[in-house]
Amino acid sequence: MNPEYKEIFDQRGGSYHAAMKSFPQARRAEFEALFSKNPCRSGDVIVDVPAGGAYLLDHLPHDIRYFPREITPGFSEDATLVEWDGDWNAPPADHVVTCAAAHHFDDHASVIDRALGALRPGGVLHLADVDLASPVGGFLDGFVGVHTPTGHDGNFLPAKGDAFYQNFDIPRHETVRVPWTFRSLDDAGKFCIGLFGLQIDDGAMVIDALREHGIDVFETSDSTVIDWRLTYIDIINT
Ligand SMILES: C[S@@+](CC[C@H](N)C(=O)[O-])C[C@H]1O[C@@H](n2cnc3c(N)ncnc32)[C@H](O)[C@@H]1O
Repeated sequence: MNPEYKEIFDQRGGSYHAAMKSFPQARRAEFEALFSKNPCRSGDVIVDVPAGGAYLLDHLPHDIRYFPREITPGFSEDATLVEWDGDWNAPPADHVVTCAAAHHFDDHASVIDRALGALRPGGVLHLADVDLASPVGGFLDGFVGVHTPTGHDGNFLPAKGDAFYQNFDIPRHETVRVPWTFRSLDDAGKFCIGLFGLQIDDGAMVIDALREHGIDVFETSDSTVIDWRLTYIDIINT
């Protein structure tokens, strides 16, 4: 694990949390895509770690058992805090979700091993994160890094086909369009400033930067869309 990143979210988790609470539907597609190939079923146990402020909950069916676990106290005083290597205090899971977090860890193999260890046999780890060489990775390490006091230097997961994955049972490994949606360009800019903890107050700067990094931002008749993409990797606990 990279302790610096833990410190980063101790500092900017509150701003991230406020952005997620102000725009709770913005990342809906990102959360729904987690389960598109290996869906959750009635009564399933889902452990979401690190969960931030448990944002996934709003996008899950009501009849599942949801256990959000967070590493840093920075997001919300309501979060259930755990050590990554410690006891997660949850029953054996049908699904473990690690969303938008793997690039914050130094050692991906131990992250995956720990998460697989929390699953029942046959359970699924859903890893969703930014692709190594994608425009999103360039935007985070570039613009976000420059405009946050803590910087951004992602340790992105290896690319599909890398030998790193050869000993895992991976029924799904794909990069998916998961558009972030807003009512207006202004809202899109505000969300990004809050989520990434940017030290700027001009939302138009973020929109320009997204486009410069090759991430489309466009308006439809009723919404504004940031063309976000993540890579989704499902790994079975064999
Ligand atoms: C971008 S947030 C994602 C939160 C939530 N999963 C979501 O999708 O909104 C990144 C997460 O990585 C966690 N994190 C950052 N550095 C970490 C570290 N060194 N060890 C463990 N978790 C870390 C943060 O606590 C935070 O929950």
